[in-house]
Amino acid sequence: MRFDAFSRRAVLQRGDCLVIGAFERGELGSEASAVDRGLRGRVRRLLAGGDFSGRSGETMLLPEVPGLTAGRLLLVGLGPKAKFNRRAWRRGMQSVITALARTRIASAAIALERPPARELDDYYFGRAVAEITAAGLYRVNDLKTERRARAPALARIWVGPVEAAATAAVRRGLAAGAALGASVTLLRNLGNLPANVCTPRYLAAHARDLERSYRRRLRVRIFDEAGIRRLKMGCLLAVTRGSAEPPRFIVLDYRGARRSRAPLVLVGKGVTFDTGGISLKDPPAMDEMKYDMCGAATVLAAIDFAARSELKINLVGLIPACENMPDGRAVKPGDIVTSASGQTVEILNTDAEGRLILCDALDYARRYQPDAVVDFATLTGACIIALGNHHSGVMANDDALARELLEAGVRSDDRAWQLPLTEEYGEQLRSNFADMANVAGREGGAITAAAFLGKFTRGMRWAHMDIAGSAWLGGAAKGATGRPLPLVADFLMRHAAGVKP
Ligand code: BES
Ligand code: MN
Ligand code: ZN
Repeated sequence: MRFDAFSRRAVLQRGDCLVIGAFERGELGSEASAVDRGLRGRVRRLLAGGDFSGRSGETMLLPEVPGLTAGRLLLVGLGPKAKFNRRAWRRGMQSVITALARTRIASAAIALERPPARELDDYYFGRAVAEITAAGLYRVNDLKTERRARAPALARIWVGPVEAAATAAVRRGLAAGAALGASVTLLRNLGNLPANVCTPRYLAAHARDLERSYRRRLRVRIFDEAGIRRLKMGCLLAVTRGSAEPPRFIVLDYRGARRSRAPLVLVGKGVTFDTGGISLKDPPAMDEMKYDMCGAATVLAAIDFAARSELKINLVGLIPACENMPDGRAVKPGDIVTSASGQTVEILNTDAEGRLILCDALDYARRYQPDAVVDFATLTGACIIALGNHHSGVMANDDALARELLEAGVRSDDRAWQLPLTEEYGEQLRSNFADMANVAGREGGAITAAAFLGKFTRGMRWAHMDIAGSAWLGGAAKGATGRPLPLVADFLMRHAAGVKP
């Protein structure tokens, strides 16, 4: 996909299709009005006829519009003019891409009304255009044997009109959004793969592929089961015991800045299938536990984004990967194991496995003396109960770090919400037999899970993101969302620029 910005004068002479927006009640914004003047009032006459309501998401494709070099005109509804904001614009853009993808249109000039600049500046406008385009053209790499619909023809987009002074910022946004779109696609593809394909070994092979793609700046190291034993990762070994698939511990080392600069470490939960183990899950929707590696995929995609964009930061990715299966050899409720940190854990519920594999990886992070550590995990159903699908959960031992993540989420329309992580929650993990249990009660389940991780991150600036609600959608729209990569990418770019909120 190629993106560019156009100026006001060029609008009627670009591409196969010109796209404009109309509000409800036949109202046109200033961009659409300017276009309509060039078309001698045809759009207004069409709206006056009442065939197009302007409701949010409505689209109408008009062929052979006289006066228009593009030949086709796509009208998109933007909802009520008084309520037009960043969110309404996003929805309008999404409908534009969906509508264009159904046609053979290969290039389009999009002249939608823009939301107020204070809600979306030039850079984030460009970024959102490219991101929404990539998301709208995404097709899952399914295994249906019936002939599939043809891939969309859309290959070129101009957006505008953009004033000369704003062009550079819009272009920078478009480039960042295109890079992000490619990494989001990678994340969604990994998430959507079935667990019989996407195994720990598959994730490791994918990390190797990244190393080959970004040879100059990326080094990958992979530990097999024997290597994991040498690292004394007793909690990861406990989770993988019941599985016939061998585990992997994957280390990615991206060097984009001076060696002396402390790295950011990203840790991702890579449970490629979570049955619950001996504490077996209920059957409904268990298939969705193939998505339990979305934290790992987030880390791979974040490294991919950093390397693709040549970000000037040092970044380490750590991925503990295994399955959680019931078996004659599987870890049992009440078993006590020793983590890499030396602390002992009583495993009261084998379905609380994410925190077990993460705690050993978080301990490994210590050797980098990191600037900060952030982990990503589809960790608890409780987080979905608390926040639904709209916000990822953030818990941290450093409020400034949490704030950076939350603000990156607001800027990227990929929001997160902070939950409190005070000492009481950690105290709920008391065990009669070991240093701690791996579960507390049902109350505050997202936070007690984070509190468990917090016992392994003392002395490091650390934040935990629970993406159980945001990483994928169930039901008819089942599929990976690509979240929280937009948030993470924004966070990384700010770090690269050295801008601290
Ligand atoms: N992967 C699950 C969390 C999950 C469940 C995410 C459903 C999305 C949808 C995690 O390993 C898990 O099973 N957590 C348990 C923890 C409990 C045993 C303390 C949960 O949330 O029920
Ligand atoms: Mn589980
Ligand atoms: Zn899990």
